Amino acid sequence: MPINANHFNAPPNILLMASLAIRGGEPVRKGKKWPEWPAYDKRELKALEEVLKSRYWGGGVGESGPWEQRFEKAFAARHGCKYGICVVNGTAALLTALLAAGVGPGDEVVVPALTFHATGGAALAVGATVVIVDVDAETYCMDVNEVEKSITERTKAIIAVYNYGTAPDMDALLKLAREHNIVLIEDCARGHGFEWRGKPAGSIGDMGCFSFQQGKFMTAGEGGIVTTNSKVYAARCYSVKDCGRVRGEVYDVGVPYWINWFNLRMTQFQAAILLAQLERFDEQLRRRQENCEYLSKRLSEIDGVTPVKVDQRLTRHQPWPYCFKVEVGCFKGVAVERIVEALRAEGIPCSTLDHQPLHMTLAPGLFGRIVKKTKYPVAEKALEEAVIIPQWVFLASKDDMDEIAEAVEKVRKHAEEL
Ligand SMILES: Cc1ncc(COP(=O)(O)O)c(C=O)c1O
Repeated sequence: MPINANHFNAPPNILLMASLAIRGGEPVRKGKKWPEWPAYDKRELKALEEVLKSRYWGGGVGESGPWEQRFEKAFAARHGCKYGICVVNGTAALLTALLAAGVGPGDEVVVPALTFHATGGAALAVGATVVIVDVDAETYCMDVNEVEKSITERTKAIIAVYNYGTAPDMDALLKLAREHNIVLIEDCARGHGFEWRGKPAGSIGDMGCFSFQQGKFMTAGEGGIVTTNSKVYAARCYSVKDCGRVRGEVYDVGVPYWINWFNLRMTQFQAAILLAQLERFDEQLRRRQENCEYLSKRLSEIDGVTPVKVDQRLTRHQPWPYCFKVEVGCFKGVAVERIVEALRAEGIPCSTLDHQPLHMTLAPGLFGRIVKKTKYPVAEKALEEAVIIPQWVFLASKDDMDEIAEAVEKVRKHAEEL
């Protein structure tokens, strides 16, 4: 991990009277725990016991299983959709949506440079060409101007990702998609419960893809779901995840990439846990949003610190992860990696950017192709300026948010000790 040269050279008089915990000073936060994640209570225990005793453990064959059906309905409705199709994880949700949209070899799929690998990986897995575009400097989400420039007659899908508790310009993306007859898939792996001008994430584009992996806002350890208002896409998604079986009466034999060899079914254990998680979801969302907005307000008051911007049109949101930028010049030129180490020593769980930008790391594998569009100045700068904080921290109290702000201000003020 690159560290500032001062790390080894701090003058001895500074170290004798060190303020920063990393130099032996008193930490801002001592002996206090952060909320544990995942959260569970008697509801999950009861749900698991019920499934166990029912002996209906696996995914439904030909139709979603009983817990899955209940969860699909409830989760889809909570996200403004008529249909929900449970799958094994968020990557499978993206894969399923792309296949349902008929995306395959020769097609181009536009994705942002800052996201988890799965966004691009799912497109590679269907044999498509991944077109990576830079992100917006304020939101770190897909830059719509870059998306527009990247559109060709081969562009079949855009995957819009909700990242860092914020969103790309969904109005502009939807308009672009409709004008060019492109499928808009929302990667909501980090966007449960978000609303754009009051419209739930997952219902804005053609399909929404959610993850229930361990660290997500709702979790069953692993899991995923596709949400949609399209009867045709819903039927195709079901068939893709259940070995080509037809659910209900809709059977579109015209699907160009008809898939009848995947089993991507979720177990009833997962669905039952998720039903319980859904019960406390709104309260958790409210708390995270409140804490995140409060922390952003506090951090904005600190010189050289800028929280990632949340668009005013994103009316409901929560941070996954929370992200703020540091101007290292205001931290005596100390590298962001060292700032993060100092914050951790003060008791703040944080790290540098959660993933290297896609254009630097995504491997094409056996079939797909990757197109790197010009340069990625914003995504690459994020490596040098972004500090992130995990979502479960925002289930803590307002006082805890004050301690985060206090720690950041302390590290800035005593940056010469680093
Ligand atoms: C933006 C994004 N997309 C997709 C995924 C894939 O989800 P999963 O890990 O459930 O396969 C993740 C998960 O980390 C993610 O963060």
